[in-house]
Amino acid sequence: MPEFITVGKADEFADGQVKRLTLGDKEIGVARVGKEFFAFEDVCTHDDGPLAEGTLEGEVIECPRHGAKFSIRTGEVLSMPASWLLQGQSGKWRCQSLS
Ligand code: FES
Repeated sequence: MPEFITVGKADEFADGQVKRLTLGDKEIGVARVGKEFFAFEDVCTHDDGPLAEGTLEGEVIECPRHGAKFSIRTGEVLSMPASWLLQGQSGKWRCQSLS
């Protein structure tokens, strides 16, 4: 059975904003795109860059260190130098707005 953890109120996240949160021993990024929310591990799969500090355009986040791009919906790598899926939304985490 899934466990849900409240990380904030929907209106605390502006559209297009990414927030870094700590859940247990994990740093995660939570992004709002329109009415949807996405969660991902705040670790770039290229070289551990802080993705939540990157630039979000639509559903694409760009790592601030070397510019790899990922889909925050699927975790897919959209631009090198990363070659491994971003962990999060496509895996064990799901965001659900309760409002
Ligand atoms: S650490 Fe993210 S692109 Fe290199």
